[in-house]
Amino acid sequence: MSSPDQYAVIGNPIAQSKSPIIHALFAKATGQHMEYTRVEGRIGGFAQQLDELRAAGMRGMNVTAPFKLEAFAYATHRSQAAELAGAVNALKFISNEVHAENFDGVGLVNDIQRNHATLLRGKRVLLLGAGGAVRGALLPFAKAEPALLVVANRTVAKAQELVAMLDKQMAVSAKACSFETLEGEFDVVVNGTSAALFDQAPAVPVSAFAPGCLAYEMAYGKGMTPFLQLARQADKSGDVRCVDGVGMLVEQAALAFEWWRGVRPETLEAISELTVPL
Ligand code: ATR
Repeated sequence: MSSPDQYAVIGNPIAQSKSPIIHALFAKATGQHMEYTRVEGRIGGFAQQLDELRAAGMRGMNVTAPFKLEAFAYATHRSQAAELAGAVNALKFISNEVHAENFDGVGLVNDIQRNHATLLRGKRVLLLGAGGAVRGALLPFAKAEPALLVVANRTVAKAQELVAMLDKQMAVSAKACSFETLEGEFDVVVNGTSAALFDQAPAVPVSAFAPGCLAYEMAYGKGMTPFLQLARQADKSGDVRCVDGVGMLVEQAALAFEWWRGVRPETLEAISELTVPL
């Protein structure tokens, strides 16, 4: 039998990445003859390392921190999602071409709509943060046609910049504000800030969580983060749903897998395998 087609995730550090587990499950379930490994990226030597990996026969890669911007620069062909996010999380190598995608935003929206049974159409959606994570998610959220899309950020100018970018793309009722000036309640509240890294919650008022809302922490495997604890405190009716980004991780992987292999894998098995109780 021929040797398996080679894929990998590159980042630094990389030992924590769950992507090899997910892609191994997908490959087994769909009968694809492939191997997916972890590669520790060389700081300051990313482009040369990719040249070497491609020369050795690598077919495609996922890209994680801190290389998403360098992968953007390295690409020869970028999707609209990659252009809008300004960052790349998946690469496909076709002869001399380097095709680049960003599946994080669509993965997040797919997770919310499919796995958390929350159709976004007509809903009030609040995105917290205005860094790379929210930037990549903005257009997929807008395409899902919520009634209202609000981006709130500590530094309001960054939120305004993102929303202005969206205005040019499509007609959706989108607003930018600071946490202090945030008004109203929302059916879906997504934390895309990195506040959890500092063991903090973004300073969002508890009134922002509508009864029965979905509180979504984009980070994965960090338990009840300060943001999710805030959502719990806000939960007067007892029906706020707190979830983390395990489904986003698996859904973006499924999109990359389909892009590389032309087969769409089921995601539920990988999600249940990787879910850590909150
Ligand atoms: P990423 O690529 O993970 O999105 P980033 O681009 O550095 O990372 O963006 C981090 C986001 O988290 C920003 O929106 C940042 O707010 P500022 O734009 O005001 O810096 C937000 N953030 C980080 N720490 C925060 C905290 N303690 N409270 C609220 N927001 C925080």
